Amino acid sequence: MNQQPSNRPLTPAAGRPSDSRRETRPEGNRPPSDINSRPKKIIVAIDGHSSCGKSTMAKDLARAVGYIYVDSGAMYRAITLYAMRHGLFKDGRLDEAGLEALLPEARITFVRDEATGLPRTFLNGEDVEDAIRGLDVSSHVSPVATLPAVRAALTRMQQEMGRGRGIVMDGRDIGTAVFPDAELKVFVTASAEVRAQRRYDELQAKGQPAAFDDILRNVRERDYIDSHRAVAPLRQAPDALLLDNSHMTIDQQRAWLLERFREKTKSSDN
Ligand code: DC
Repeated sequence: MNQQPSNRPLTPAAGRPSDSRRETRPEGNRPPSDINSRPKKIIVAIDGHSSCGKSTMAKDLARAVGYIYVDSGAMYRAITLYAMRHGLFKDGRLDEAGLEALLPEARITFVRDEATGLPRTFLNGEDVEDAIRGLDVSSHVSPVATLPAVRAALTRMQQEMGRGRGIVMDGRDIGTAVFPDAELKVFVTASAEVRAQRRYDELQAKGQPAAFDDILRNVRERDYIDSHRAVAPLRQAPDALLLDNSHMTIDQQRAWLLERFREKTKSSDN
């Protein structure tokens, strides 16, 4: 993709929060024409286990209601790629002090892809959307996401992005640490077997078959890591709605979330 991020500076460098609200708002979907009839924009926080379809739900909702969508996992992945490119993994171990020192130079931005209407992730001006989805980044991201300095910097950036509200953000700690005051919080889960089956089907469809048992083991391992780390572990916020989508279709989930959104925006108008 040739889209240049320079004409749309959207987020500050990881270590430096911006003082301009306009600069920190990723340009998401266009607001619907009736936006003025909805006086209050809200924050929608969607957290949950890996491979439970929360990004699909979050993107669909953002598109339907004209909100910005932010994939917070993409930010952790971008910092991981940054660390890898700076040779900060030695024998599989992360040089934590090295990453902390270089963090202020990592600038993560999102640029709207005109073709899909969804944001693409840029790292210091380079489109890294595809690179951050690879297995290499996936297998290095956990130690980066557990580092308190990284979490503090990314949390600050995410809070900046949500300053004007009108945002749907998904991740692991959005309703607990990033936006504890979000008006609508959803915690999504599904059984490990169902999530492994979905992942298995996705890989099959992409022509990258893998053994079901290996996928299931990986899903369980990631659940354990996400929910046992010291800083901002994956937890359902006390005021989050629980959605177990093990036996729901994507359409049913979409309808469920839109209905919860309508309830919240209706009641916040009162
Ligand atoms: O959702 P994902 O698989 O793209 O997330 C990538 C990694 O980042 C995963 O290890 C969990 C972590 N993450 C996090 O710690 N906090 C978030 N808010 C989002 C993702």
